[in-house]
Amino acid sequence: MNTVDIITKKRDGLKLDAGEIEYMVEGYVSEAIPDYQMAAFLMAVYFQGMDTEETVTLTKVMRDSGEVADLSAINGIKVDKHSTGGVGDKTTLITGPLAAACGVPVAKMSGRGLGFTGGTVDKLESIPGFRMSIEESDFIELVNKQGIAVISQTGHIAPADKKIYALRDVTGTVENMSLITSSIMSKKLASGSDAILLDVKCGSGAFMKTEKDAERLASLMVDIGKSSGKRTMAVITDMNQPLGCAIGNALEVKEAIDVLKNEGPDDITELSVTLAGMMIFLGNKANTPDEGIAMAAEALKSGRGLEKFRELVRGQGGDPGITEDSSLLTKSAHTLELHAWGSGYIGEMDAMMIGQASQHTGAGRQRKDDAINPSAGIYFCKKTGDSVKKGEVVCKVFGDDVKKLKNSLEEIENAVKIITERPQAYSIIKKVIR
Ligand code: URA
Repeated sequence: MNTVDIITKKRDGLKLDAGEIEYMVEGYVSEAIPDYQMAAFLMAVYFQGMDTEETVTLTKVMRDSGEVADLSAINGIKVDKHSTGGVGDKTTLITGPLAAACGVPVAKMSGRGLGFTGGTVDKLESIPGFRMSIEESDFIELVNKQGIAVISQTGHIAPADKKIYALRDVTGTVENMSLITSSIMSKKLASGSDAILLDVKCGSGAFMKTEKDAERLASLMVDIGKSSGKRTMAVITDMNQPLGCAIGNALEVKEAIDVLKNEGPDDITELSVTLAGMMIFLGNKANTPDEGIAMAAEALKSGRGLEKFRELVRGQGGDPGITEDSSLLTKSAHTLELHAWGSGYIGEMDAMMIGQASQHTGAGRQRKDDAINPSAGIYFCKKTGDSVKKGEVVCKVFGDDVKKLKNSLEEIENAVKIITERPQAYSIIKKVIR
Protein backbone atom coordinates (compact mmCIF):
# COMPACT_ATOMS: atom_id res chain seq x y z
CA MET A 1 0.00 0.00 0.00
CA ASN A 2 1.11 3.54 -0.68
CA THR A 3 0.17 6.68 1.24
CA VAL A 4 0.06 8.93 -1.83
CA ASP A 5 -2.27 6.48 -3.64
CA ILE A 6 -4.68 6.48 -0.68
CA ILE A 7 -4.68 10.29 -0.43
CA THR A 8 -5.28 10.56 -4.20
CA LYS A 9 -8.07 7.98 -4.09
CA LYS A 10 -9.93 9.95 -1.44
CA ARG A 11 -9.16 13.25 -3.15
CA ASP A 12 -10.91 11.87 -6.24
CA GLY A 13 -13.97 10.92 -4.23
CA LEU A 14 -13.51 7.15 -4.19
CA LYS A 15 -14.38 4.84 -1.33
CA LEU A 16 -11.54 3.50 0.82
CA ASP A 17 -11.46 -0.09 2.02
CA ALA A 18 -10.80 -1.12 5.62
CA GLY A 19 -7.14 -1.95 4.94
CA GLU A 20 -6.48 1.49 3.51
CA ILE A 21 -8.10 3.29 6.45
CA GLU A 22 -6.19 1.10 8.89
CA TYR A 23 -2.95 1.79 7.01
CA MET A 24 -3.43 5.58 7.31
CA VAL A 25 -4.33 5.58 11.03
CA GLU A 26 -1.73 3.06 12.13
CA GLY A 27 0.91 4.70 9.97
CA TYR A 28 0.20 8.11 11.49
CA VAL A 29 0.23 6.83 15.08
CA SER A 30 3.51 4.97 14.53
CA GLU A 31 4.97 8.08 12.82
CA ALA A 32 5.56 6.25 9.54
CA ILE A 33 3.21 8.81 7.95
CA PRO A 34 4.23 12.45 8.55
CA ASP A 35 1.92 15.33 9.50
CA TYR A 36 1.88 16.83 5.99
CA GLN A 37 0.55 13.64 4.40
CA MET A 38 -2.04 13.08 7.13
CA ALA A 39 -3.12 16.73 6.78
CA ALA A 40 -3.63 16.22 3.03
CA PHE A 41 -5.60 13.04 3.72
CA LEU A 42 -7.82 14.79 6.29
CA MET A 43 -8.48 17.64 3.85
CA ALA A 44 -9.46 15.09 1.18
CA VAL A 45 -11.87 13.49 3.68
CA TYR A 46 -13.15 16.94 4.63
CA PHE A 47 -14.14 17.73 1.02
CA GLN A 48 -15.11 14.27 -0.26
CA GLY A 49 -16.61 12.82 2.93
CA MET A 50 -16.77 9.17 3.94
CA ASP A 51 -19.78 6.87 3.75
CA THR A 52 -21.18 5.04 6.78
CA GLU A 53 -19.07 1.92 6.22
CA GLU A 54 -15.85 3.95 5.99
CA THR A 55 -16.82 5.96 9.09
CA VAL A 56 -17.56 2.79 11.10
CA THR A 57 -14.17 1.37 10.09
CA LEU A 58 -12.34 4.61 10.95
CA THR A 59 -14.05 4.70 14.38
CA LYS A 60 -13.13 1.11 15.21
CA VAL A 61 -9.53 1.48 14.03
CA MET A 62 -9.17 4.61 16.20
CA ARG A 63 -10.78 2.86 19.19
CA ASP A 64 -8.34 -0.05 18.82
CA SER A 65 -5.32 2.27 18.62
CA GLY A 66 -5.12 2.12 22.43
CA GLU A 67 -6.63 0.51 25.50
CA VAL A 68 -10.30 -0.32 25.88
CA ALA A 69 -11.06 0.35 29.56
CA ASP A 70 -12.41 -2.55 31.57
CA LEU A 71 -15.03 -1.28 34.03
CA SER A 72 -16.59 -4.69 34.60
CA ALA A 73 -15.64 -4.47 38.31
CA ILE A 74 -18.23 -1.70 38.67
CA ASN A 75 -21.67 -3.05 39.54
CA GLY A 76 -24.61 -2.07 37.32
CA ILE A 77 -25.04 -0.59 33.86
CA LYS A 78 -22.51 2.23 33.39
CA VAL A 79 -23.90 5.09 31.33
CA ASP A 80 -21.63 7.67 29.73
CA LYS A 81 -22.82 11.05 28.53
CA HIS A 82 -21.07 13.16 25.93
CA SER A 83 -21.72 16.61 24.56
CA THR A 84 -20.41 17.62 21.14
CA GLY A 85 -19.37 20.88 22.77
CA GLY A 86 -20.99 24.20 23.43
CA VAL A 87 -20.65 27.50 25.26
CA GLY A 88 -21.46 27.34 28.97
CA ASP A 89 -22.10 23.59 28.87
CA LYS A 90 -21.67 22.37 32.43
CA THR A 91 -24.36 19.67 32.28
CA THR A 92 -22.01 16.80 33.24
CA LEU A 93 -21.57 18.40 36.68
CA ILE A 94 -25.35 18.20 37.15
CA THR A 95 -26.47 15.12 35.20
CA GLY A 96 -23.78 12.90 36.78
CA PRO A 97 -24.91 13.51 40.38
CA LEU A 98 -28.62 13.34 39.44
CA ALA A 99 -28.22 10.01 37.62
CA ALA A 100 -26.00 8.62 40.40
CA ALA A 101 -28.58 9.70 43.00
CA CYS A 102 -31.09 7.53 41.10
CA GLY A 103 -28.86 4.44 41.18
CA VAL A 104 -26.99 4.70 37.86
CA PRO A 105 -23.25 4.18 38.33
CA VAL A 106 -21.44 7.14 36.75
CA ALA A 107 -17.81 6.32 35.91
CA LYS A 108 -16.87 9.33 33.87
CA MET A 109 -13.66 9.81 31.91
CA SER A 110 -13.44 13.42 30.82
CA GLY A 111 -11.13 15.62 28.83
CA ARG A 112 -9.70 19.09 28.98
CA GLY A 113 -11.11 21.71 26.69
CA LEU A 114 -9.59 23.29 23.65
CA GLY A 115 -11.47 26.40 22.67
CA PHE A 116 -14.03 28.59 24.39
CA THR A 117 -13.86 27.25 27.94
CA GLY A 118 -12.29 24.33 29.67
CA GLY A 119 -13.65 20.80 29.61
CA THR A 120 -15.14 18.97 32.58
CA VAL A 121 -11.62 18.28 33.89
CA ASP A 122 -10.79 22.01 33.94
CA LYS A 123 -14.11 22.86 35.58
CA LEU A 124 -13.67 20.31 38.37
CA GLU A 125 -10.05 21.34 38.88
CA SER A 126 -11.27 24.85 39.70
CA ILE A 127 -12.55 23.31 42.97
CA PRO A 128 -9.73 23.66 45.52
CA GLY A 129 -8.17 20.26 46.27
CA PHE A 130 -10.16 18.28 43.68
CA ARG A 131 -7.98 15.48 42.26
CA MET A 132 -8.63 14.27 38.72
CA SER A 133 -5.62 11.96 38.46
CA ILE A 134 -6.48 8.91 40.50
CA GLU A 135 -5.49 5.29 40.10
CA GLU A 136 -7.94 3.17 38.11
CA SER A 137 -8.48 0.87 41.11
CA ASP A 138 -9.38 3.87 43.35
CA PHE A 139 -11.68 5.17 40.61
CA ILE A 140 -13.55 1.86 40.46
CA GLU A 141 -13.73 1.70 44.28
CA LEU A 142 -15.15 5.25 44.44
CA VAL A 143 -17.86 4.49 41.87
CA ASN A 144 -18.84 1.29 43.71
CA LYS A 145 -18.88 3.17 47.04
CA GLN A 146 -20.57 6.48 46.21
CA GLY A 147 -21.99 5.90 42.71
CA ILE A 148 -19.91 8.53 40.93
CA ALA A 149 -16.32 9.47 40.13
CA VAL A 150 -14.69 11.51 37.35
CA ILE A 151 -11.14 11.09 36.08
CA SER A 152 -9.03 12.62 33.32
CA GLN A 153 -9.03 10.53 30.24
CA THR A 154 -5.59 8.96 29.93
CA GLY A 155 -3.46 9.07 26.78
CA HIS A 156 -4.02 5.30 26.52
CA ILE A 157 -7.63 5.81 25.39
CA ALA A 158 -7.84 6.22 21.58
CA PRO A 159 -4.34 7.73 21.13
CA ALA A 160 -5.02 7.97 17.37
CA ASP A 161 -7.77 10.49 18.09
CA LYS A 162 -5.50 12.54 20.31
CA LYS A 163 -2.96 12.88 17.51
CA ILE A 164 -5.44 13.31 14.66
CA TYR A 165 -7.62 15.81 16.58
CA ALA A 166 -4.58 17.99 17.33
CA LEU A 167 -3.73 18.01 13.61
CA ARG A 168 -7.35 18.70 12.56
CA ASP A 169 -7.43 21.59 14.96
CA VAL A 170 -4.62 23.38 13.11
CA THR A 171 -5.52 22.38 9.54
CA GLY A 172 -9.16 23.51 9.30
CA THR A 173 -10.50 19.96 9.21
CA VAL A 174 -12.54 19.74 12.41
CA GLU A 175 -16.03 20.34 11.00
CA ASN A 176 -16.57 17.11 9.10
CA MET A 177 -19.29 14.63 10.00
CA SER A 178 -17.18 11.44 9.66
CA LEU A 179 -14.17 12.94 11.42
CA ILE A 180 -16.27 14.25 14.33
CA THR A 181 -18.14 10.94 14.61
CA SER A 182 -15.01 8.79 14.62
CA SER A 183 -13.28 11.14 17.07
CA ILE A 184 -16.10 11.12 19.62
CA MET A 185 -17.23 7.53 19.23
CA SER A 186 -13.73 6.00 19.27
CA LYS A 187 -13.23 7.54 22.74
CA LYS A 188 -16.70 6.59 23.96
CA LEU A 189 -16.35 2.99 22.77
CA ALA A 190 -12.94 2.74 24.47
CA SER A 191 -14.03 4.21 27.78
CA GLY A 192 -15.72 1.07 29.08
CA SER A 193 -19.34 2.16 29.57
CA ASP A 194 -22.32 -0.04 28.69
CA ALA A 195 -24.55 2.72 27.34
CA ILE A 196 -23.97 6.15 25.78
CA LEU A 197 -26.07 9.31 25.78
CA LEU A 198 -25.03 11.94 23.22
CA ASP A 199 -25.95 15.61 23.51
CA VAL A 200 -25.56 16.87 19.95
CA LYS A 201 -25.51 20.65 19.88
CA CYS A 202 -26.83 22.67 16.98
CA GLY A 203 -26.66 26.38 16.28
CA SER A 204 -24.17 29.22 15.99
CA GLY A 205 -21.96 28.02 18.87
CA ALA A 206 -21.84 24.38 17.71
CA PHE A 207 -19.97 22.42 15.04
CA MET A 208 -23.32 21.64 13.44
CA LYS A 209 -25.03 24.90 12.50
CA THR A 210 -28.32 23.42 11.27
CA GLU A 211 -30.76 20.98 12.84
CA LYS A 212 -30.55 18.79 9.70
CA ASP A 213 -26.77 18.38 10.01
CA ALA A 214 -27.03 17.79 13.77
CA GLU A 215 -29.60 15.08 13.09
CA ARG A 216 -27.34 13.38 10.54
CA LEU A 217 -24.42 13.47 12.99
CA ALA A 218 -26.59 12.16 15.83
CA SER A 219 -28.02 9.30 13.73
CA LEU A 220 -24.57 8.25 12.56
CA MET A 221 -23.20 8.21 16.12
CA VAL A 222 -26.24 6.33 17.45
CA ASP A 223 -25.88 3.70 14.69
CA ILE A 224 -22.19 3.23 15.47
CA GLY A 225 -22.86 2.94 19.22
CA LYS A 226 -25.57 0.35 18.67
CA SER A 227 -23.57 -1.62 16.12
CA SER A 228 -20.84 -1.88 18.76
CA GLY A 229 -23.30 -3.38 21.27
CA LYS A 230 -23.89 -0.24 23.38
CA ARG A 231 -27.35 1.08 24.13
CA THR A 232 -27.10 4.57 22.58
CA MET A 233 -29.40 7.59 22.34
CA ALA A 234 -28.90 11.18 21.21
CA VAL A 235 -30.63 14.43 22.03
CA ILE A 236 -30.34 17.42 19.68
CA THR A 237 -30.18 20.62 21.69
CA ASP A 238 -29.98 24.34 21.01
CA MET A 239 -26.62 26.11 20.95
CA ASN A 240 -27.57 29.44 19.40
CA GLN A 241 -27.04 31.11 22.75
CA PRO A 242 -24.88 30.15 25.72
CA LEU A 243 -26.30 27.53 28.06
CA GLY A 244 -27.19 29.08 31.41
CA CYS A 245 -25.70 32.40 32.48
CA ALA A 246 -22.14 31.38 33.43
CA ILE A 247 -19.23 30.73 31.06
CA GLY A 248 -15.84 29.93 32.59
CA ASN A 249 -14.66 27.16 34.85
CA ALA A 250 -15.26 28.20 38.49
CA LEU A 251 -18.27 30.28 37.40
CA GLU A 252 -19.78 27.17 35.81
CA VAL A 253 -19.16 25.08 38.92
CA LYS A 254 -21.02 27.72 40.93
CA GLU A 255 -23.91 27.66 38.43
CA ALA A 256 -24.04 23.83 38.50
CA ILE A 257 -24.41 24.06 42.29
CA ASP A 258 -27.19 26.65 41.84
CA VAL A 259 -29.01 24.25 39.51
CA LEU A 260 -28.63 21.38 41.99
CA LYS A 261 -30.15 23.70 44.62
CA ASN A 262 -33.04 24.33 42.23
CA GLU A 263 -31.96 27.96 41.93
CA GLY A 264 -30.38 27.83 38.46
CA PRO A 265 -31.43 29.28 35.09
CA ASP A 266 -34.35 27.51 33.38
CA ASP A 267 -32.56 26.37 30.19
CA ILE A 268 -29.70 24.53 31.89
CA THR A 269 -32.05 23.09 34.53
CA GLU A 270 -34.44 21.71 31.90
CA LEU A 271 -31.63 20.28 29.80
CA SER A 272 -29.80 18.69 32.75
CA VAL A 273 -32.94 17.04 34.13
CA THR A 274 -33.83 15.70 30.66
CA LEU A 275 -30.33 14.32 30.02
CA ALA A 276 -30.13 12.79 33.51
CA GLY A 277 -33.57 11.21 32.93
CA MET A 278 -32.33 9.60 29.74
CA MET A 279 -29.23 8.32 31.51
CA ILE A 280 -31.52 6.79 34.14
CA PHE A 281 -33.56 5.14 31.37
CA LEU A 282 -30.44 3.87 29.56
CA GLY A 283 -29.15 2.54 32.88
CA ASN A 284 -32.36 0.48 33.23
CA LYS A 285 -33.52 2.30 36.37
CA ALA A 286 -36.63 3.61 34.59
CA ASN A 287 -38.97 1.94 32.10
CA THR A 288 -39.30 4.96 29.83
CA PRO A 289 -37.35 8.19 29.23
CA ASP A 290 -40.26 10.15 30.76
CA GLU A 291 -40.15 8.05 33.92
CA GLY A 292 -36.39 8.70 34.07
CA ILE A 293 -36.97 12.45 33.69
CA ALA A 294 -39.50 12.39 36.55
CA MET A 295 -36.97 10.55 38.73
CA ALA A 296 -34.23 13.08 37.89
CA ALA A 297 -36.61 15.97 38.67
CA GLU A 298 -37.38 14.42 42.05
CA ALA A 299 -33.64 13.96 42.82
CA LEU A 300 -33.15 17.64 42.04
CA LYS A 301 -36.11 18.82 44.11
CA SER A 302 -35.30 16.67 47.13
CA GLY A 303 -31.64 17.77 47.20
CA ARG A 304 -30.37 14.19 46.65
CA GLY A 305 -28.51 15.36 43.53
CA LEU A 306 -26.77 18.12 45.49
CA GLU A 307 -25.80 15.64 48.20
CA LYS A 308 -24.34 13.33 45.53
CA PHE A 309 -22.34 16.26 44.13
CA ARG A 310 -20.94 16.89 47.62
CA GLU A 311 -19.97 13.21 47.89
CA LEU A 312 -18.21 13.44 44.51
CA VAL A 313 -16.24 16.50 45.61
CA ARG A 314 -15.36 15.07 49.04
CA GLY A 315 -14.43 11.66 47.57
CA GLN A 316 -11.85 13.24 45.26
CA GLY A 317 -10.23 15.51 47.83
CA GLY A 318 -12.19 18.72 47.21
CA ASP A 319 -13.91 20.92 49.76
CA PRO A 320 -17.69 20.22 49.75
CA GLY A 321 -18.07 23.54 51.59
CA ILE A 322 -18.09 25.22 48.14
CA THR A 323 -21.76 24.30 47.91
CA GLU A 324 -22.52 26.67 50.80
CA ASP A 325 -19.76 29.25 50.35
CA SER A 326 -18.96 30.06 46.72
CA SER A 327 -16.16 32.43 47.81
CA LEU A 328 -14.10 29.24 48.38
CA LEU A 329 -13.92 28.93 44.58
CA THR A 330 -11.09 31.03 43.14
CA LYS A 331 -11.64 34.75 42.63
CA SER A 332 -10.36 36.84 39.73
CA ALA A 333 -8.44 40.08 40.16
CA HIS A 334 -10.81 42.24 38.07
CA THR A 335 -14.51 42.47 37.21
CA LEU A 336 -15.90 44.73 34.48
CA GLU A 337 -19.56 45.26 33.58
CA LEU A 338 -21.36 45.71 30.27
CA HIS A 339 -24.31 48.10 30.55
CA ALA A 340 -27.29 48.04 28.21
CA TRP A 341 -26.93 50.58 25.40
CA GLY A 342 -30.70 50.75 24.84
CA SER A 343 -34.02 49.57 26.24
CA GLY A 344 -36.11 46.65 24.96
CA TYR A 345 -35.48 42.89 24.96
CA ILE A 346 -32.39 40.77 24.56
CA GLY A 347 -33.03 39.42 21.06
CA GLU A 348 -29.96 37.45 20.09
CA MET A 349 -26.81 36.25 21.83
CA ASP A 350 -24.41 34.82 19.28
CA ALA A 351 -22.95 31.81 21.09
CA MET A 352 -19.87 31.56 18.87
CA MET A 353 -18.86 35.19 19.38
CA ILE A 354 -19.55 34.97 23.11
CA GLY A 355 -17.49 31.78 23.29
CA GLN A 356 -14.58 33.60 21.70
CA ALA A 357 -15.00 36.51 24.13
CA SER A 358 -14.90 34.08 27.06
CA GLN A 359 -11.73 32.50 25.72
CA HIS A 360 -10.15 35.95 25.60
CA THR A 361 -10.91 36.53 29.30
CA GLY A 362 -8.55 33.60 30.02
CA ALA A 363 -11.28 30.97 30.55
CA GLY A 364 -10.29 28.82 27.56
CA ARG A 365 -7.12 27.81 25.78
CA GLN A 366 -6.03 28.40 22.20
CA ARG A 367 -3.28 25.78 22.24
CA LYS A 368 -3.41 22.57 24.15
CA ASP A 369 -0.55 23.57 26.49
CA ASP A 370 -1.98 27.01 27.34
CA ALA A 371 -2.73 27.64 31.01
CA ILE A 372 -6.32 28.35 31.94
CA ASN A 373 -7.44 30.93 34.49
CA PRO A 374 -10.07 29.02 36.51
CA SER A 375 -11.79 32.14 37.77
CA ALA A 376 -12.01 33.95 34.41
CA GLY A 377 -15.17 34.09 32.33
CA ILE A 378 -18.49 35.80 31.77
CA TYR A 379 -21.70 35.94 33.79
CA PHE A 380 -24.87 37.08 32.00
CA CYS A 381 -27.42 38.92 34.14
CA LYS A 382 -29.76 39.03 31.11
CA LYS A 383 -30.56 36.32 28.58
CA THR A 384 -32.51 36.01 25.33
CA GLY A 385 -36.11 37.14 25.87
CA ASP A 386 -35.39 39.16 29.04
CA SER A 387 -36.49 42.78 29.11
CA VAL A 388 -33.73 45.30 29.65
CA LYS A 389 -33.54 49.01 30.45
CA LYS A 390 -30.77 51.29 29.21
CA GLY A 391 -27.93 51.32 31.74
CA GLU A 392 -28.79 47.97 33.38
CA VAL A 393 -26.01 45.40 33.70
CA VAL A 394 -26.15 42.89 30.81
CA CYS A 395 -23.13 40.88 31.90
CA LYS A 396 -19.97 40.88 33.99
CA VAL A 397 -16.56 39.69 32.83
CA PHE A 398 -13.94 38.30 35.20
CA GLY A 399 -10.20 37.90 34.72
CA ASP A 400 -6.72 39.08 35.62
CA ASP A 401 -5.96 41.31 32.61
CA VAL A 402 -8.05 44.50 32.31
CA LYS A 403 -7.06 45.16 28.68
CA LYS A 404 -8.20 41.68 27.63
CA LEU A 405 -11.41 42.09 29.63
CA LYS A 406 -12.17 45.37 27.84
CA ASN A 407 -11.72 43.62 24.48
CA SER A 408 -14.02 40.82 25.62
CA LEU A 409 -16.69 43.35 26.60
CA GLU A 410 -16.51 44.84 23.09
CA GLU A 411 -16.86 41.39 21.56
CA ILE A 412 -19.91 40.66 23.75
CA GLU A 413 -21.49 43.99 22.80
CA ASN A 414 -21.22 42.93 19.13
CA ALA A 415 -22.69 39.51 19.90
CA VAL A 416 -25.77 40.66 21.83
CA LYS A 417 -28.71 42.42 20.14
CA ILE A 418 -31.23 44.57 21.98
CA ILE A 419 -34.52 44.66 20.06
CA THR A 420 -37.85 46.39 20.63
CA GLU A 421 -40.18 43.36 20.47
CA ARG A 422 -40.00 40.35 22.74
CA PRO A 423 -38.45 37.51 20.68
CA GLN A 424 -40.22 34.16 20.31
CA ALA A 425 -39.43 31.64 23.03
CA TYR A 426 -37.03 28.91 21.87
CA SER A 427 -36.91 25.31 23.01
CA ILE A 428 -33.66 23.96 24.34
CA ILE A 429 -34.48 20.36 23.37
CA LYS A 430 -35.09 19.92 19.67
CA LYS A 431 -35.25 16.20 19.05
CA VAL A 432 -34.49 12.78 20.52
CA ILE A 433 -32.84 10.13 18.33
CA ARG A 434 -33.12 6.55 19.57
N1 URA B 1 -15.29 16.61 20.09
C1 URA B 1 -14.41 15.62 19.84
O1 URA B 1 -13.99 14.90 20.74
N2 URA B 1 -13.99 15.45 18.56
C2 URA B 1 -14.43 16.20 17.53
O2 URA B 1 -14.03 15.98 16.41
C3 URA B 1 -15.35 17.22 17.81
C4 URA B 1 -15.78 17.39 19.10
